[in-house]
Amino acid sequence: MAAKAAGADVIIAQGLEAGGHRGSFNTEDMSRSLVGLFALLPAVVDAVKVPVVATGGVADARGVAAALLLGASAVQIGTGLLRTPEAKIASPWADAIGTSLPEDTVPTRAFSGRLGRSIRTAYTEAADKGPIPAPYPIQRNITKAMRTSATDIDRMQAWAGQSAGLTRAEPAAELITDLWSTAKELLNS
Ligand SMILES: Cc1cc2nc3c(=O)[nH]c(=O)nc-3n(C[C@H](O)[C@H](O)[C@H](O)COP(=O)(O)O)c2cc1C
Repeated sequence: MAAKAAGADVIIAQGLEAGGHRGSFNTEDMSRSLVGLFALLPAVVDAVKVPVVATGGVADARGVAAALLLGASAVQIGTGLLRTPEAKIASPWADAIGTSLPEDTVPTRAFSGRLGRSIRTAYTEAADKGPIPAPYPIQRNITKAMRTSATDIDRMQAWAGQSAGLTRAEPAAELITDLWSTAKELLNS
């Protein structure tokens, strides 16, 4: 509603499933106000007249079709493109994405001080039991040496969403063309 009041032409509805950092109006309450895309999307679509873009946990044609059926005008894919050669991410990160189950990712402030969803690693697990992370961007600077020199998954900032396991290691153009044609078949069947 704040985006609508500010005159947004398009609104992106980002579910809690999403990989990486997240947009949030209230940074204090961020981790307690996470909503799944299946609940968030129809609520936003019903509340506004501008086009709504669905994002968070969509990584295959079924997800694209479901989001369009729930009222989205478009779908935004993040994690689902990370294993494409164009993304050029480190291979331990790409491999971990390909084998992740939905419960293998966690929202954490441990890398930057801001909430983001990453692969569950030895670092995120240890940080969960340790002191509260410093605010952004201090925590980001504290972890910089570890992140930038990382060669194994336990030191990497391995952002990924809950549908990581659905991602495919294919050129981006092929992947998107196939997602869209299969989604259209699903919607017309
Ligand atoms: C590597 C990576 C970095 C991201 N960084 C940001 C960011 O800085 N700010 C933000 O609002 N969203 C960020 N996102 C979230 C995406 O904009 C998008 O909402 C998300 O990837 C969608 O969910 P999915 O990863 O399940 O497809 C990032 C996502 C990834 C995968």
